[in-house]
Amino acid sequence: MEPYLKIVSTGISVPDKVLTNQDLEKMVETSDEWIITRTGIRERRVSAPGVASSDLGTQAAQMALDAAGISAAEVELLLVATASGDYLFPSTACVVQKNLGADQATAFDISAACSGFLYGLTVAYSLMKSGSYRNALVIGAETLTKITDYQDRSTCVIFGDGAGAMLVTLGNDNNNGIFASHLGSDGKFTTLSNLPAGGTRLPATADTVRQHRHFIKMEGNELFKVAVRSMEEAARLTLKKAGLTTADVDILIPHQANLRIINALIKRLGIPDERVYINIERYGNTSAASIPIAYHEARSKGLLSEDSVVLLVAFGGGITWAGVLLRG
Ligand code: UT7
Repeated sequence: MEPYLKIVSTGISVPDKVLTNQDLEKMVETSDEWIITRTGIRERRVSAPGVASSDLGTQAAQMALDAAGISAAEVELLLVATASGDYLFPSTACVVQKNLGADQATAFDISAACSGFLYGLTVAYSLMKSGSYRNALVIGAETLTKITDYQDRSTCVIFGDGAGAMLVTLGNDNNNGIFASHLGSDGKFTTLSNLPAGGTRLPATADTVRQHRHFIKMEGNELFKVAVRSMEEAARLTLKKAGLTTADVDILIPHQANLRIINALIKRLGIPDERVYINIERYGNTSAASIPIAYHEARSKGLLSEDSVVLLVAFGGGITWAGVLLRG
C-alpha cells in the first residue's frame, strides 16, 4: 500500500486586532452591505506594526508542536507557504526555523500564493515518500495587510492576516492522513493578481512608492472566473486520482477568497452547503493561511472524524491551483 501522510497536530495564530466592515466604511468609499453581499466577509484580523509573517507562522507552528508533544529539534522538514514573506531573501522558513530552534530541519519557502499551503503539503508528501524525511512542519503564514493599499477599495476589503500549521509524519496503515493530491498552474495569468514593485522587475524607487506599486493589485472580476474553473478542476482531478467522486466527500475545505466563489464552486461540484467548512466572514482572505486555519477550526470543533474524507482545494495568484485529499 502507498504510504500516507498522517496529520499529527495543527495550530493557528491570528492577531487580536479586528478590522470590521464598519471600520472600512470610514477609510474608503464602501459599505458593510456591499462587502457582505459581494464577498461574505464581515471582519478580518490585522497584525500590529512590527509583526511579520514569520512571527505568526512561529506561533502557529509552536502550537502544533505543543499539541503533539514534539520538540522543535526533532523537526526534519520545515516549509512555509507565503505571499507576504518577511524578506525577498532569506526565506521566511529560515526565520521560523531560528525562532523555533528547529536546528535539524531543512527549511524553505513555497511560493504559490493562496495555493501555497497545499503545494507545501504535496512537496512534503513527495519528499517523505521518497524516504528523505520522517516528519514535516508545513505552515501557511501571511501578513497581507502590510502589503494592502487602504486607499484601494477593490482590494482592502478582502485581505486579512493569520497563520496555520500542520505537523505531519509518514504512516503506512492508510487509515488516516493525506492520500492524494493534484497541483496545477498557468503562467498566462500572472497579471491578474500581483505585487508589481520591490522585486527585480521593478526595484523600489521613490516613484514606485508614490504610485502605490508596493501593494497588491488585482483584476478581481477576471480572477473570480478562473478561480471557480481552476478549483473545480483541482477538486475533480484530485478525486479522480483516488478513484473517488464528489459524493464521497464528507467535508470540503476550500480556500476562503470570496463566499460567492465558494458557492459557485460547490454548485458545480454538487456538494451541499452542510458539507462545506466556511469561516471567511471572520478572517477574509488570508491566502496561504486560509486552508490550515479552516482545517484546524473544523478539527477542533469535532467536525472531522477518523473516517471523514476531507477535500482541500485552493487557487491563487500565478495562477496556481491545488487539491489535497485526506482522511481524518
Ligand atoms: O489573491 C487572489 C485572490 N483574489 C480573489 O480571489 C479575488 C476574486 N474576485 C473577487 O472576489 C471579486 O471580484 C471582488 C470582491 C474583488 C469584486 O467583486 P465584483 O462583484 O467582481 O465587483 P466588480 O469588480 O465587478 O465591481 C463592481 C462595482 C464597481 O463599480 P461600477 O464600476 O459598477 O460602478 C466597483 O467600482 O463595485 C465597485 N466596488 C466597490 N463598491 C463598494 C469595488 N469594490 C468596492 C467596494 N465597495 N469595496
